[in-house]
Amino acid sequence: MSVTYRVESGGVLSGRIRVPGDKSISHRAIMLGSIAEGTTRVSGFLEGEDALATMNVFRALGVCIDGPEQGIVAIHGGGMRGLKAPHGVLDCGNSGTSMRLLAGLLAAQPFDCELTGDASLRRRPMKRVAEPLVLMGACIGTAAGGTPPLRIHGVPELHGIDYVMPVASAQVKSALLLAGLYARGRTCVTEPAPTRDHSERMLAAFGYPVERGGGRVCVAGGGTLRATVIEVPADISSAAFFMVGASITPGADLVLEHVGVNPTRIGVIEILRLMGADLELMHPREIGGEPVADIRVRHAPLKGIEIPRELVPLAIDEFPVLFVAAANAEGTTVLTGAEELRVKESDRIQVMADGLAALGAEAQPTPDGMRVHGGPYRGGEVGSHGDHRIAMAFAVAALRAAEPITIRDCANVATSFPGFVELARTAGLRIRAL
Ligand code: S3P
Repeated sequence: MSVTYRVESGGVLSGRIRVPGDKSISHRAIMLGSIAEGTTRVSGFLEGEDALATMNVFRALGVCIDGPEQGIVAIHGGGMRGLKAPHGVLDCGNSGTSMRLLAGLLAAQPFDCELTGDASLRRRPMKRVAEPLVLMGACIGTAAGGTPPLRIHGVPELHGIDYVMPVASAQVKSALLLAGLYARGRTCVTEPAPTRDHSERMLAAFGYPVERGGGRVCVAGGGTLRATVIEVPADISSAAFFMVGASITPGADLVLEHVGVNPTRIGVIEILRLMGADLELMHPREIGGEPVADIRVRHAPLKGIEIPRELVPLAIDEFPVLFVAAANAEGTTVLTGAEELRVKESDRIQVMADGLAALGAEAQPTPDGMRVHGGPYRGGEVGSHGDHRIAMAFAVAALRAAEPITIRDCANVATSFPGFVELARTAGLRIRAL
């Protein structure tokens, strides 16, 4: 089904909203709950297509899961050895997190299986997980070019490795830790820069010992997970659209409720603050091992900056909307060290540069980033290339466009942000889905 957004220019964001649950945490809750002993109860679960793809895969692996019903899920875990051989190919849809984390977990099972996905996922690099898993003794094949489908042959046992990741990737780290739960000995992963640590935190919440320090994380195989209760906070990556929207709109004053503010995810807050944004973290609290806060955002004039490279992995999903912030800032914003953006759901550097150019904004793509020059832009028609975050970023751009913006190919917004149009309208965006 094709979905087009039509967003009238203008509008002011105000009030209080709660965006849907965190995608990364929702995936992990299903995965760890499925191999835990007992029933794990989850609330705030993201009922988006990506997390539902993970849920469907675990059902195909024989796990009994109730829900989701208004964000409530009960996972009846069968323990470390409870997964069953699936009857057909396992479809991860658009979700790189499902495929990469599942590769680690399934490489350690005694049965064969095959993982595939949609056209976008079938273009994405999988060698980054397959290669280290093979070093652990796994048997995994990719298509030529290292892309899906992944064909995994069951092996009797994996062995731990000490792996230094060439790219800063939470998905690779998590895949190796999941395989490491089953491996003989210790599995250690060193990351070149800090990446999101939800797997480590959630393993600890399930009672599994995790050693961490100095950019290195280790697990020893052979333990068990105990079912737990998980309250998923609102996804900071979804909140980011509204942080930028309110920052760029005179008169805006918006509160985003119950947002996960894990230090490995708050690059967007730090970058926006460096640009001059007015973001206030209210009532900081910790829920189930994850920090949470309400975030009040008021309009503030933004200025262009050189984005510090160490913040790139901590804001990796937020650059489409940060480019929109940059287009509304005074001066030039320069992003470097972000070549990973080229292998996300779309080539986010090229697709954003093309879209900004179509609106009359000035942006030059570079191999590993972008230069965006702030200034007025018109409006017009852009393509999202089926990438949820591109579609939502351009919807937010309409707040300051001179004319309406039409965004094609927006159905995939449902992968991470079901109800985006309705919630954005509540907050003050003049958006319609056609
Ligand atoms: C994710 C990790 C990130 C991120 C993705 C979700 C995760 O990918 O872009 O949307 O849940 O672990 P990389 O780890 O490949 O950077």
